[in-house]
Amino acid sequence: AAIREYQFDVQMTNVTRLCSSKSIVTVNGQFPGPTVFAHEGDLVVVRVVNHVPYNMSIHWHGIRQLRSGWADGPAYITQCPIQSGQSYVYKFTITGQRGTLWWHAHISWLRATVYGPIVILPKPGVPYPFPAPHKEVPVILGEWWKADTEAVISQALQTGGGPNVSDAFTINGLPGPLYNCSAKDTFKLKVQPGKTYMLRIINAALNDELFFSIAGHPLTVVDVDAVYVKPFTVDTITITPGQTTNVLLTTKPSYPGATYYMLAAPYSTAASGTFDNTTVAGILEYEEPWSSPSAPAFNKNLPVFKPVLPQINDTSFVSNYTAKLRSLASAQYPANVPQTVDKSFFFTVGLGTHPCAVNGTCQGPNGSRFAASINNVSFVLPTTALLQAHFTGKSRGVYAPNFPVAPLVPFNYTGTPPNNTNVMNGTKLVVLPYGATVELVMQGTSILGAESHPLHLHGFNFFVVGQGFGNFDPAKDPAKYNLVDPVERNTIGVPAAGWVAIRFRADNPGVWFMHCHLEVHVSWGLKMAWLVLDGDKPNEKLLPPPSDLPKC
Ligand code: C2O
Repeated sequence: AAIREYQFDVQMTNVTRLCSSKSIVTVNGQFPGPTVFAHEGDLVVVRVVNHVPYNMSIHWHGIRQLRSGWADGPAYITQCPIQSGQSYVYKFTITGQRGTLWWHAHISWLRATVYGPIVILPKPGVPYPFPAPHKEVPVILGEWWKADTEAVISQALQTGGGPNVSDAFTINGLPGPLYNCSAKDTFKLKVQPGKTYMLRIINAALNDELFFSIAGHPLTVVDVDAVYVKPFTVDTITITPGQTTNVLLTTKPSYPGATYYMLAAPYSTAASGTFDNTTVAGILEYEEPWSSPSAPAFNKNLPVFKPVLPQINDTSFVSNYTAKLRSLASAQYPANVPQTVDKSFFFTVGLGTHPCAVNGTCQGPNGSRFAASINNVSFVLPTTALLQAHFTGKSRGVYAPNFPVAPLVPFNYTGTPPNNTNVMNGTKLVVLPYGATVELVMQGTSILGAESHPLHLHGFNFFVVGQGFGNFDPAKDPAKYNLVDPVERNTIGVPAAGWVAIRFRADNPGVWFMHCHLEVHVSWGLKMAWLVLDGDKPNEKLLPPPSDLPKC
């Protein structure tokens, strides 16, 4: 195994998109940020130096961080932020993962511009379980805001209303030709005929699940969240913020004499209507046809093909797609699905309200403030890091170890919402003994509309053993669980007006954040944390904190 060292200088950089410039937070002046490359088994060492006037922290999304929770990154969960002028070295070993993950700022809304890919290759000499691609290309989907995103969220929190939406979606930071004055800011995937390419697709958008498709070129899904899956081929994929997927694309056998668009557009149950052309486009371009004897005469006015994406609220497309995802579950890559359960939990996830200080004057529903919760608890970040409070035994006044295992007042989750939509504030954790097998059913609620919530768990992969629409039925639904080859991942959409059941093994001591990966819902409190205690054996204990761990 090798040591992969990086320096991340977090700095302000001027960037122009959609004909307007602004100063954004970047890493090393790059937008999107640099790619971290490693092989499975390598030690990654990233020195982050904060040169910006904001507090900073970087999360290595999906990295297991076995016993290295101090390097996970969410501000006030595993570390205090890196203050302006300070630095912190993140150190972690990549264990049992191969594929694509990503890194992003994990404080306030700074991940709007602070993100980049993590490419994890198999151990040297170990092949992919599919034919090796000719070339691999990261495809990072994101959002671009003309406004300062920190101002957008702080204003929304002040008024209690919903934040403004972004001005464009982007592919590798570029909005593409369907937006005003963006034709020159177009991602081009240059390909040759008769070859296979692997796209490492990441959804880094702040607030939107996305569809993605390339005209005339089906995509074969081979990996999600750095776990191999049984390959399947589709025209369109769906991907929630936080998720990553590797897909194979095979080019036409000879120069096709056409240009193919790739498009991404949002999936949102809250929205209605059809495809809108405020859609990010990239271009799949066959390289230099004039240089090939078999090529048709070069023609600048090649016909352009655009893919047809599902409608914006096509929930059945999304659930069918999700149902296709299966672990490889082979001898070499087994699916170690917990067959028995030590601890089981039922969480409602959804929106809600806070009362307004002066009744009826906030911009949320009926003059209230927007909020979001899990089991009616809207999580409040502490002012010191939870992991530190736990490790030093000073948890009093920081968190309470009594997160509810089920809703205190059950209701018809997908029927008429209750009259009282208010949530309670709290900083509550679930405490798990080391090694416990956990089953968690997450039930979407219809409070303020049924919406899909992409839930992300830090520190673990989980198996998605079941999903369905309506209310979860504990008497019937578990009988239909897939305990053989369920997909293993770190982020899953809880379906709109439905539920999802996951299982994981609590084999990683530390404090692990779990939250909706729609950033506005994080801001409103759709988050909680698990505290996994040390085991008895020496290799079952959280390592001590590094000496440069930031202080609050
Ligand atoms: Cu990618 Cu806690 O997030």
